[in-house]
Amino acid sequence: MADEGRMKLSKLIDGKAISQKLRQDIAKEVAGLKEKGYTPGLAVVLVGEDPASRTYVSMKEKACQAAGIFSLEHKLPEDTPQADLLKLVEDLNHDERIDGILVQLPLPGHINSDRIIEAISPHKDVDGFHPYNFGMLVIGKPLFQPCTPYGIMKLLEVTGIDLKGKEVVVVGRSNIVGKPVAFMCLAKHATVTICHSRTVDLQAKVGQADVVIAAVGKAEMIKGAWIKPGAVVIDVGINRVGEKKLVGDVEFEAALERASAITPVPGGVGPMTITMLLANTVESCKQRMNKG
Ligand code: GUN
Repeated sequence: MADEGRMKLSKLIDGKAISQKLRQDIAKEVAGLKEKGYTPGLAVVLVGEDPASRTYVSMKEKACQAAGIFSLEHKLPEDTPQADLLKLVEDLNHDERIDGILVQLPLPGHINSDRIIEAISPHKDVDGFHPYNFGMLVIGKPLFQPCTPYGIMKLLEVTGIDLKGKEVVVVGRSNIVGKPVAFMCLAKHATVTICHSRTVDLQAKVGQADVVIAAVGKAEMIKGAWIKPGAVVIDVGINRVGEKKLVGDVEFEAALERASAITPVPGGVGPMTITMLLANTVESCKQRMNKG
């Protein structure tokens, strides 16, 4: 392989390979817990027929099985009343086989997602979406951290990227990725800027970043030429263009020329989300074990 090709490969943060290794470690940990009489259990609740949600849920199921985690799936019809869903969550809160509860989002329009998330016990909230867990993250004492941003931090950690004193620019302010990842970076002593759709001169902000975290959900919105030479690029976007092709929020080829490290799409951040869900479920089981 030409030197140039090798250099480009070495810049790639291989989320798929990192995920596989972590999942092997998790499976070993699960086996150890089972020997002590504790089987981690995850309940996944899907309401309706959204094809993307169905795919995610079946991926979560398979990942649980491969890791030896007990998984319980509840598939409910689209017109399920909110009260029924609340009742199910309440039952799962008290189900001793279950360490983690995940209600797949988005929920149908007649259901108030906030009400459902708040009904999940914070001690089983392996998605890290409950306001209690969000608050704990913000005050720097996290219990369960949301899986995608947690996965980003894990990728940076295993790649040996230290955030101390670095300028991190997060593009996107969602509750699921942008906001939590900003606080996680702050906890690692980065100087953090959160940009969004109303940010004036996004290019200049991105151009200052030592680490860019793109989570806007707009295909190739962040241009490769904006990236500061040597910066790290974490691309959370998964955008479908045409029938088959997936692209990130960053113009990959052009960013690859300038970045010192970059996550591809697919195969970067994506695989980490389910991996961290498994990690949170195991963590929750350990907490149950330690409580006796
Ligand atoms: N929908 C898309 N991503 C997620 C996720 O991480 N958790 C849940 N519960 N729903 C989602």
